[in-house]
Amino acid sequence: MKISDYRVITELPNLDYTPQIAKEMEPYYEKVKTVIPKIEWPYHAPYVKAINKLKKERNAVCLVHNYMTPEIYHCVADFVGDSLALSKEAARTDADIIIQCGVHFMAETSKILNPDKIVLTPDMEAGCSLAESITGQDVRNLKKKYPGVPVVTYVNTSADVKAESDICCTSGNAKRIVESLGVGKVIFIPDKYLAQNIAKETDVEIIWWDNGCCEVHELFTPEDLIEARESEENLKIIAHPECPPNVVAEADFSGSTARMIEWVTEKKPEKVMMVTECSMSDNIAAENPETKFIRPCNMCPHMKKITLSKILNNLLYLNNEVIIDAEISKRAYSAVDRMIKLDIS
Ligand code: 13P
Ligand code: SF4
Repeated sequence: MKISDYRVITELPNLDYTPQIAKEMEPYYEKVKTVIPKIEWPYHAPYVKAINKLKKERNAVCLVHNYMTPEIYHCVADFVGDSLALSKEAARTDADIIIQCGVHFMAETSKILNPDKIVLTPDMEAGCSLAESITGQDVRNLKKKYPGVPVVTYVNTSADVKAESDICCTSGNAKRIVESLGVGKVIFIPDKYLAQNIAKETDVEIIWWDNGCCEVHELFTPEDLIEARESEENLKIIAHPECPPNVVAEADFSGSTARMIEWVTEKKPEKVMMVTECSMSDNIAAENPETKFIRPCNMCPHMKKITLSKILNNLLYLNNEVIIDAEISKRAYSAVDRMIKLDIS
């Protein structure tokens, strides 16, 4: 179906916090009560109700990244996960409309995998410092400089950049994707820190792109981790591999957002510090009340552009459709699909 085939909604949902909405939304508040103050709930509850109702009517799903705020993560998501899990779910979903609750490159990846579906982003301006660090032309220049060397591209990139790549990877499978190519050398773009963290663990020579890093994870320092350990006895520290290598070296474990969640759920540490974007700790703390979370708070300004009211606008007006040039999308598809087919989780 095209957007013009959908019913135009003229009757707007009631966004008042009535006693009836309060009662109906109680089970949702139960899930987030440890991380959302009671005083804020009347603002969220009517949106939660309206979004969940309209999703059914529109046959839409919300694919929600682990960095979304708790009212999105726990109350309107049909599926939550890291970049890899979200791409796989986007490839699998039967829904007609995908609302990608995350940043723009994530919505583009869903569209690359579902060219015939409607993919919406709550905010077109939700970018990413990694995706913005490199262009398709930069990749063509790198390929000229290193002829014959395959290009492994982190999914945090635009469709243009993916279209120039041999294969994509995520932070959860990067090392294994690099090694799956069976070559001695790869170009790895655009995250220099992720590249350096992989280079420490593999014999494959990694050529990295010096201009790319995550503006959130680059702020962490080894001293932050050392100080936290000194002030909290028995503290476990887990870090995202977008952090600089000297930060990862101080951590007990490093992995994608999904791997970090698995680690906490399985190990059930008494105290943990998640060295990553703030909302992760809130989302996981709500599900692990027995663990004390020490929260170093670096916020991703792009992820935080996604709100319940913008998700509701997507459902009401089917606005902010993600469109990708067909030829670029086809070439980008090869790189993303090659990663998915390897089925390296
Ligand atoms: P994950 O793939 O680990 O979810 O990471 C995505 C991201 O943007 C981290 O900053
Ligand atoms: Fe990009 Fe970093 Fe934000 Fe993730 S946390 S979306 S890598 S800027």
